[in-house]
Amino acid sequence: MSTTPNSQAAHASNTDANSNLDAARSCKVSASAQGAPASPAGKRPAPPCTLVIFGAGGDLTKRLLMPALYNLAVDGLLDDGMQIVGVNHGERETNEWVEDLHQSLQKFAADKASTFHAGKIDDNAWEWVAQRLEYMAGDFETPDTFARLTDKLAQAPGGNVIFYLAVGSRFFKPIVGHLGESGLLKEGAGFRRLVIEKPFGNDLASARDLNAHILSYALESQVYRIDHFLGKDTVQSILAVRFANALFEPVWRREYIDSVQITAAETIGVEGRGKFYEQTGAFRDMVPNHLFQLLGMVAMEPPNSFDAEAVRDKKAEIFDAILPLTPDDVVFGQYEQGPAGVAYREEPDVAPDSSTETYAAARVFIENWRWAGVPFYLRTGKRLAARRTEISVQLKPVPFRLFRDTPVGALTPNVLTLRIDPAHGTSFDFNVKTPGPVMQVGPVQSSFDYGDFFAERANVGYETLLYDCMLGDETLFQRADSIEAGWCAVDGVLHPKTGGALAVHGYAAGSAGPAEADALLAREGRAWRPLTTAAVEKK
Ligand code: BG6
Repeated sequence: MSTTPNSQAAHASNTDANSNLDAARSCKVSASAQGAPASPAGKRPAPPCTLVIFGAGGDLTKRLLMPALYNLAVDGLLDDGMQIVGVNHGERETNEWVEDLHQSLQKFAADKASTFHAGKIDDNAWEWVAQRLEYMAGDFETPDTFARLTDKLAQAPGGNVIFYLAVGSRFFKPIVGHLGESGLLKEGAGFRRLVIEKPFGNDLASARDLNAHILSYALESQVYRIDHFLGKDTVQSILAVRFANALFEPVWRREYIDSVQITAAETIGVEGRGKFYEQTGAFRDMVPNHLFQLLGMVAMEPPNSFDAEAVRDKKAEIFDAILPLTPDDVVFGQYEQGPAGVAYREEPDVAPDSSTETYAAARVFIENWRWAGVPFYLRTGKRLAARRTEISVQLKPVPFRLFRDTPVGALTPNVLTLRIDPAHGTSFDFNVKTPGPVMQVGPVQSSFDYGDFFAERANVGYETLLYDCMLGDETLFQRADSIEAGWCAVDGVLHPKTGGALAVHGYAAGSAGPAEADALLAREGRAWRPLTTAAVEKK
C-alpha cells in the first residue's frame, strides 16, 4: 500500500511545509545578496567570495566538492564574482587540475552507482565553474604558502573568503595556525570562514585541544564544522516530519514510544582506506558524529525558530543529556570472510591481527523528561547484508486485548521508519482488519517515496552546506560544545576505566553483524529491524 502520488492535497501540503522551511531559512540571506536575481529554485545567489580549498587534489574535492559547486552553478546559486583557489602539494598547471576535475565529474555523472549520477554534464555550467578555478601549489605547513595566499586574497570579492580544509586531520592545526598567524582569519569589510571536515579529534581530549587551538585564532561564528549527514535532504526532513505534522509530535515521547533504532549499514568494505580505518574504526568513524547527529534530530525539543542558534541549542541539550556510555552498552564486530568477500584483516593496509572494529552497536539513553527510559539502539558497520541508513521509531503496544484470540503482545507494533539512504522517504507499519468474515488483525505498511512526489536531483549533499556557509547560516554545522558533548558521551567506551579494550566479535562479510549485537537487544526483549527484507511482507 502506497500513499497516492498524484494527490493534489498531499502535494500542496508538502510544498507548503517546504516553503515554510525555506522562508525561515531565507531570512538569513545577507544584505549583499538581497538585490541579486532569484534562481529558478526561488533562492538567491550566495554573496561573492573566494573559496580556498586545501586538499585540491584529494578525493573529497573531486567526488563531492566539485559536483556540489557544479550543481550550485546549474541552479544559478553562485555569484558571478566567485573565485575558487585550490591549494595542494605538488606543482601543477591550473589547466591540468581543471581537466582532471572535469574528467572525474564526467565519470561520476555517468556512473549509476555514484552519488553524483547526473547523467550528462551541462557544458555551460561546467565552463562557468572552470573559468573561476585556479590552482596554487603549496605546502600546508610552510609560511611561504600563506604569504602567497595573502597576496592572492587581496583581490577576494568583497574581502569574503572561505577556507575549506579538505585535508587529513593532521593538517587541521598547522593550517589554522598559519592562517591565523598570517592575519588571514581577521574579518574586516568581508567575512573569513573556516570549514573543517571530520574526524574532529579522535576522543574528548583531542577534540577539546583542536577546538581550543582553532578558537585561539578564530571566533566560533567563523567556524563551520561539517558533518555531511546534515547536508542530506532526508536528514533535514526529520525536523519537517516531526514539526510540520500534527500526527507525530503528540506521541513523540516516552509515554508512547517503546524504542528507537538508528541504522547506518553499508555493504562496502574499507575501500582502500585501510590506513585511516585501522586508526579510527567504525565506532569513532560513525557514532559520536553521524549517528549522534541523527539522534539529535530525532530527539531534540522543538526550537522556537529555524534560527541557527535556536536549533543548535536544542540539539546541544540532547547531547548533554546522553547518559555516558559504558562498555556494557556497546558491541564491536569485525568482518570475516563471507559471501560478500574477504576478511577485513586481508584488506590492503590492514594488520593481519588487527583488532579494529568494522561494526559497532550501542544502546543510548537520554536523561531528560521526554526520553527517560526509552532506549535508542544505534548500529553501523561495513560489509553488511544491505546498504541502509534509517531511523525506526517503534511505538508501545495498545493497552489491552480487544481482539479475541489476538494477544496484544502478538500484534505487530506501529513503527515509523524514516529512510535516509539509499531509499528516500518514510514508511509506517500498522494493523488493519484482514478481509473476510472473521475479525482478525493483520499488519500492513504505508510508504512514501520522495521520487513519487518530487523530481530527484543529483545532489551529493554538500550543496546546501556550501551554500549555507556562503550565506553565513550555521544551522547545519556543529558547534564546539556539541562536538565535545558527543565525544564526552563515548569517552568511557574509548578509554574504559576497567577491563581493558572491548572484545571484537567476528561476523561474516555480507551478514547482518555479530550475534552479540542481537543479544544486546534480546536481553531487553527486542530485536533489530531486519536489514534485508521489508518488515511487513505483502501477501
Ligand atoms: C564517512 C565515513 O564519514 O561516512 C565513511 O568516514 C562512511 O566510512 C561514510 O562510509 C558514510 O556516508 P554516506 O553518506 O555514504 O552514508
